[in-house]
Amino acid sequence: MIQMPRYPSDGDIGAQLVRALADEVANFMRPVSGPTHSALGEEAIRDLLVAEIPRRSLGPNSIESFVTEIFSKHIRSYRHPLHFGHQRPAPNAASLIADMLNGATNTTVSVFEAGPISVALEKHVQSWLLGLFNMPVHSCVTFTNGGSESVLTALLSARIRFERDNPDLDIRTTRIFVGSDAHYSAERAIRILGLSPTNVIRVPVMPDGQTSASALRKLVSAVKAEGVPILAIVATSGSTACGAFDDLTAFRQIADTCGAWLHVDACHGGACRLVPELARYIRGLEHADSFSWDPHKMMWVSPPCACLFMRRRRDLNLALADDLERASYILDGITDRPSETASESLEWTLSCTRSFSALKVYLTLILYGLDGIAERIRSMHDLACKLAAAVAADHRFKLFANPAFNIVCFQHRNVGSDVSAGHRQLRLNLAVADKCYLTGAEIHGEYWLRAQFTSEATRESDISKLLDIVDAEASHIRASDTPLKISGV
Ligand SMILES: Cc1ncc(COP(=O)(O)O)c(C=O)c1O
Repeated sequence: MIQMPRYPSDGDIGAQLVRALADEVANFMRPVSGPTHSALGEEAIRDLLVAEIPRRSLGPNSIESFVTEIFSKHIRSYRHPLHFGHQRPAPNAASLIADMLNGATNTTVSVFEAGPISVALEKHVQSWLLGLFNMPVHSCVTFTNGGSESVLTALLSARIRFERDNPDLDIRTTRIFVGSDAHYSAERAIRILGLSPTNVIRVPVMPDGQTSASALRKLVSAVKAEGVPILAIVATSGSTACGAFDDLTAFRQIADTCGAWLHVDACHGGACRLVPELARYIRGLEHADSFSWDPHKMMWVSPPCACLFMRRRRDLNLALADDLERASYILDGITDRPSETASESLEWTLSCTRSFSALKVYLTLILYGLDGIAERIRSMHDLACKLAAAVAADHRFKLFANPAFNIVCFQHRNVGSDVSAGHRQLRLNLAVADKCYLTGAEIHGEYWLRAQFTSEATRESDISKLLDIVDAEASHIRASDTPLKISGV
């Protein structure tokens, strides 16, 4: 047992812990089988933790035992073959190394002198990404702490540009069009920007979940006819609920008729750019005024790792760079030059402190190559298509729509009298049990089971296993036909 001083020195203890835990951490990268998660509920897990903030160090053994006895036993492994969970895949091996390097050094991406490798590498990766997405000469891409921050920054830029171009108009009189299945972060961003729900016009979606371009066209014409200014249109490329992709060419054309900013939430679907045969779903993305993409979704990069692409770099400068006049402690002398010449990454982002996400993208790209990542995405898409085909061919189930990407929504045809309540209960029961993990989503007012393919361990044979598990659970639901309330999920 090591004798601990009151305050352990990181130099000694860090190396000791990394060596002691290297195998344990490496094992998290392996696929798992058996139960999908711990059998304990939230309270029981809390009971395993150190009850009070300790006054004195509990020593390195406390970290080791936490990892081996508590953490490792109570995660839900996203590497299980029957894991069809949220948009947060198991991270790839490159992310593990990047997170270790970030954790060990905390290197900053704000200004070059404080983080030479991080700032240089980030700029390098940015130029890779601009090329990958065919962005024009004066465009830019910036890393954000998540997709929601990316959407917020985009809409802030839209607002600032609108106010500059229309000094006599009150921003509160404007309208923003958002698809009714758009991710909630768009409306949240609108509220943070000081606008209210009355500024938002929800555009209906079609039966397959795609926002209706013809409905948008009509709504925009009606608003224009009333003389109401239109600030922005938000399209979605890969909706959270069912993975539907909006028609970006039509959206661009409609935005041009009213001078609106077009933002595309491609947080999920931006990864289609990496797969030639899926790239058609995001055709026209580079013509948007801005778009968001999360490598921490379908690039298997650990979070946070999100990007905001801006068609015109100056729009982002206008929104952000001018606020930095008082930051002489980090950016001395920036007031002496025009904001268009912003060069430090701090001048391109909402957050002062950001994760060094570019490192994860860089290491991912050099470890797997574009082809390797494309292959992985393609295999998830293929599995999603196979599940959809299996559902469509099976009299026990009903398919929502053929998947564009990697999300399949479906229902069991017999879950008792109330279809939505029955499926909600079914999903909750499955989440508590340990055989598979599925999510769900309300679409067109009805609740559907939602399977998202991200796990490298999933095989075609797992599809029939999933359907049989769901079918067995449906018979339990039918048998009771009075949904029980299950807590703790
Ligand atoms: C379509 C879409 N947009 C935005 C977001 C928000 O992204 P983040 O979780 O990175 O903030 C999500 C998250 O799941 C999403 O699915």
